[in-house]
Amino acid sequence: MKKALVLYYSYSGNTKKVAAVLQKVLAEKYQVNMLELKALDEPDSFVRQCLRSLKKKQAQIQENISFDVSEYDLIALGTPVWAFGMAPAMRTFINKCSDFQLKDIIVFATYGSGVGKEKCLKEMAQISISRGAGVVKQFLVQQNDTADEQRVTLCIKEIL
Ligand SMILES: Cc1cc2nc3c(=O)[nH]c(=O)nc-3n(C[C@H](O)[C@H](O)[C@H](O)COP(=O)(O)O)c2cc1C
Repeated sequence: MKKALVLYYSYSGNTKKVAAVLQKVLAEKYQVNMLELKALDEPDSFVRQCLRSLKKKQAQIQENISFDVSEYDLIALGTPVWAFGMAPAMRTFINKCSDFQLKDIIVFATYGSGVGKEKCLKEMAQISISRGAGVVKQFLVQQNDTADEQRVTLCIKEIL
């Protein structure tokens, strides 16, 4: 059976809910591994979080995360939109992981107002391509919809 990795960062739980639905959907075709990034040095202040994201800072993440993704056929990367971009923990992973070797990549994000949501995914897609991705697919879920499993499932099935 093909293998998929769903790797995500979630500060307040929304992206985690979407990642769980994605796991369920992918499990129809893949053996799915889930990995949640933890940011060990993330401040709790909204303003500081925004500034770190704007400055494209990387976060310190837990040590047991492997950056070797060579065993997977599909890799899904999820983040909340923070100040029009990905959260620093996702930037750490996406910058350090092994080459994507033409694998299928899904980038996804949850967001609030929607400002910067396309910019966030565009950058993740561009970095994925620069790291050797084959096909890059993407989807977005508004924060109020993240608890609606049916709706999230539809969003995912539209891009698969
Ligand atoms: C520091 C910070 C910055 C944010 N910046 C944006 C933004 O630029 N655009 C947007 O639409 N939502 C923004 N949001 C809202 C989050 O993207 C949204 O609440 C998301 O669902 C949170 O996901 P999580 O619960 O997985 O952490 C921001 C939230 C935080 C905490």
